[in-house]
Amino acid sequence: MMRVSLLNEGLEIPIEGEVAYFNYYWLRDNCPSSWDDITQERIFDILDEPDDLQIRQVEADELALNIIWHDGHRSRFELTWLVRWYKERSHEDLAIRHRTPWYCDHYKRMARFDFNDLLENPASVADWTEKLLDEGVALVQKMPSSNEELVQLCELIGVVRPSFSGYAFDVFSKKNPENLAYTSRALELHTDLPPEELAPGIQFLHCRTNDAEGGDSLFVDAVSVANTLKETYPEYFKILTSYKVPFRYTTKHHDVRAKQRIIEIDEDNGEVSGINFSQHLSDIFDLPQRVLDMFYPAFRKFGQMMQDPRFLMRFRLNGGECIVFDNHRIVHGRSSFKDGSGDRFLRGCYVGRGDLRSTYRVLRAKYPKERFLKL
Ligand code: OGA
Ligand code: ZN
Repeated sequence: MMRVSLLNEGLEIPIEGEVAYFNYYWLRDNCPSSWDDITQERIFDILDEPDDLQIRQVEADELALNIIWHDGHRSRFELTWLVRWYKERSHEDLAIRHRTPWYCDHYKRMARFDFNDLLENPASVADWTEKLLDEGVALVQKMPSSNEELVQLCELIGVVRPSFSGYAFDVFSKKNPENLAYTSRALELHTDLPPEELAPGIQFLHCRTNDAEGGDSLFVDAVSVANTLKETYPEYFKILTSYKVPFRYTTKHHDVRAKQRIIEIDEDNGEVSGINFSQHLSDIFDLPQRVLDMFYPAFRKFGQMMQDPRFLMRFRLNGGECIVFDNHRIVHGRSSFKDGSGDRFLRGCYVGRGDLRSTYRVLRAKYPKERFLKL
């Protein structure tokens, strides 16, 4: 028997040499009977409990804490479960993973998957989504040249999420372009659409044809750059993770605005998770002028570091390839191409980052990594 002390609003129980405290409402709310067996949703209503929730009887051994509540309801909490919530305060989450930074030489070792293999093998989708979580980018090859198959690829991870302009966008040189992407000009390094409140998560850029002269792809791992900034200019890093600045996108029919932090931190593990960066969609920075005295040097240094050849992966996207990447983490752009020199046509779509994590959790649980060892 273990000693349990009942206090006013919670109880204390020894856990691994420490005294662990648990709130009564939290315990009652999370009684194993609170969950529906089939849907796994909560079917218990904590709002119906009295204001001074009381315990009638309690006992604990090495395996479990047993409680009889004021109304006779019985709860049994496995000790291993209590230990996890005392120490980690979270569910186990396969999708919280350490990001692997990469540099200019990443192209040759970038993860590659075949479209048909992904369609046929959910275990390959588990590997693909893992690479997207860890490295933020992967190439899908042997893509058929159709809109439908791009959607099919997206739907292996989640639902296609529209931006304000629709479910997909086509990139080619247009007569009356509404933005720079639809010209043959170079596109400086950017993340797509930070003016949207929830800037797009995972981007799919499907290259259907690339016969133009020029138009190379430029990709940078912003996690790599931001980590380097943190080491070398910690005060700049602090500024870019603290202040929000405005972004704006206007057309005849739109005036889309949002404020974002330039560098975003993953609340689950404190790592840099991505950035918001687009000089062509940056609005007039509205910070106090004295703050701008600090902000601009930080912003400029970070932007210059991204252009450093040490970080810049330059390659050519070929027809039949679809590059898939985390639009918050991977900054991308392209060199200019020569109008009239050949066709260049890319089609893009987005899927949420939450969908990526969800798909990874489900598939990795079903297809554990160990399968490689058994071969
Ligand atoms: C874009 C874009 C890349 C390219 O349209 O936002 O990044 O290679 N295009 O044209
Ligand atoms: Zn883009």
